[in-house]
Amino acid sequence: MSGFDPNWLALREGADQRARNRGLLAALAKHFAEREAMVVVDLGAGLGSNLRAIAPALSARQHWVLVDHDPALLAGACEAIAAWADAVRPSTAGLEATKSGKSLRVELKHADLAKDPAAFAALAPDLVTAAALFDLVSEAWIGRLVQALARARVPLYAVLDYDGAVQWNPPHRTDAAMVAAFERHQALDKGFGPAAGSRATGLLAKQLAAKGYGVERAASPWRLGADDAALVRAHSQGFAEAVSETGELPRHDIADWLALRLADGVTCIVGHEDLLAIPPAAGAAASSRQRPAAASAATRRRGG
Ligand SMILES: C[S@@+](CC[C@H](N)C(=O)[O-])C[C@H]1O[C@@H](n2cnc3c(N)ncnc32)[C@H](O)[C@@H]1O
Repeated sequence: MSGFDPNWLALREGADQRARNRGLLAALAKHFAEREAMVVVDLGAGLGSNLRAIAPALSARQHWVLVDHDPALLAGACEAIAAWADAVRPSTAGLEATKSGKSLRVELKHADLAKDPAAFAALAPDLVTAAALFDLVSEAWIGRLVQALARARVPLYAVLDYDGAVQWNPPHRTDAAMVAAFERHQALDKGFGPAAGSRATGLLAKQLAAKGYGVERAASPWRLGADDAALVRAHSQGFAEAVSETGELPRHDIADWLALRLADGVTCIVGHEDLLAIPPAAGAAASSRQRPAAASAATRRRGG
């Protein structure tokens, strides 16, 4: 697929950080509270926004492996982490940084995840995480990832996957048709096979629960107001482009919709979901394999 614009990723970082579900982040921190050191793999890391959001909540010593197929974004991640950290020095694999008393070894890994969702297993991570990635991947790819996670008994923290709920103010007569067409665009192949789109978190939850994981899901919507005008405009522009690629709406309707969205004072809510999945404890694994999948019910945590 075509690359992600670093300006777009930088523009959305503030809204992403605000949107992340606090309760789920606290649950992640609690799970690793006793851990002095840990290895974290971030899939589709982009400019490293996920690291900047999570690292302050994790162990004193962290080894991060940032995986992406775009070398320019990985280079950008290095720069952005260096700008964010309290102190930094380059290393052969990436960089070493300290931030708020945490020591971070950051390794950059250039890899095509579409080819092998299980490549992380060789790194023996304590946590696999990804932000805004799983709505791009296919159901089959999620299946392969979940197999590999379960085999290695690694927790997954997946955040900011689009859930299909979008709302603008002021409304426009074509909003519902625009969202429906966008949803169909979301399901197109983004390099991993037909994309999960807004079904991503549900698919992850179902498959992880079937492997005995304890799964929590929580809403993490963007709530974009007057201070986010640039992001509202960029998002609306991207939304309109995606809809026009589907050919499902007349061009003049899309243009009319976009003109309203580019005007001053537009606000919007864009639905996302976060998920935290914890593998069964070593002793519980054998018995969970004999339980029907439904016994490991995914719980839902809203708001926060
Ligand atoms: C929506 S961006 C999210 C980036 C970052 N996680 C964030 O939250 O800002 C999706 C990321 O997945 C990466 N990506 C997409 N397809 C990939 C693939 N086949 N292999 C590795 N990375 C991929 C992109 O380069 C991009 O950095």
